[in-house]
Amino acid sequence: MSLYSKSYAFVFLMILSAPVMAIQARVVDNSPEAMEQRLQPPGLPQLHVKEVAAAAAVTAGNGLGLSGEQIYNQFCTICHAAGVAGAPKLGDKAAWKPRVDQGIDTLLQHAIQGINAMPPKGTCAQCSDSDLKATIEYMISK
Ligand code: HEC
Repeated sequence: MSLYSKSYAFVFLMILSAPVMAIQARVVDNSPEAMEQRLQPPGLPQLHVKEVAAAAAVTAGNGLGLSGEQIYNQFCTICHAAGVAGAPKLGDKAAWKPRVDQGIDTLLQHAIQGINAMPPKGTCAQCSDSDLKATIEYMISK
């Protein structure tokens, strides 16, 4: 099954690291709980997982309040700038033309559900449907 090919494993590693990096960059958690966690000895995996989960909870919900361009730069550029695993590159009109011809609703469905090596929600788990739509509109405007 192609999903389990080597390139998929590579992409999957990137999927795992992208939201973690993005969340760590975005959320500076100064709650007593988070401070306490930071004072614990470093390198304990379960604390790390907890902190990431807490950070994810902070940004979960009704979208991110970011523009399509900001979401693209945080979550989508990692694949769509260089064309990783066959992702249509930003600004590559020939690559985007047949995709845009499917219509925005189909593009949005594919972005939400994922398609082939494209992960569900493009790794932006916190993105609402309208966040993703704004991001796709930004991408296809290029
Ligand atoms: C891990 C890499 C990766 C990330 C991150 C990623 N994409 Fe993709 N994307 C792909 C790949 C690969 C394809 C091509 C899939 C195919 O058609 O085989 C794709 C295709 C698409 C398409 C076209 C779908 C279609 O129907 O033709 C859209 C729209 C899209 N991505 C939006 C996004 C958005 C929005 C984000 C960020 C929120 C994002 N992508 C993040 C890899 C990625």
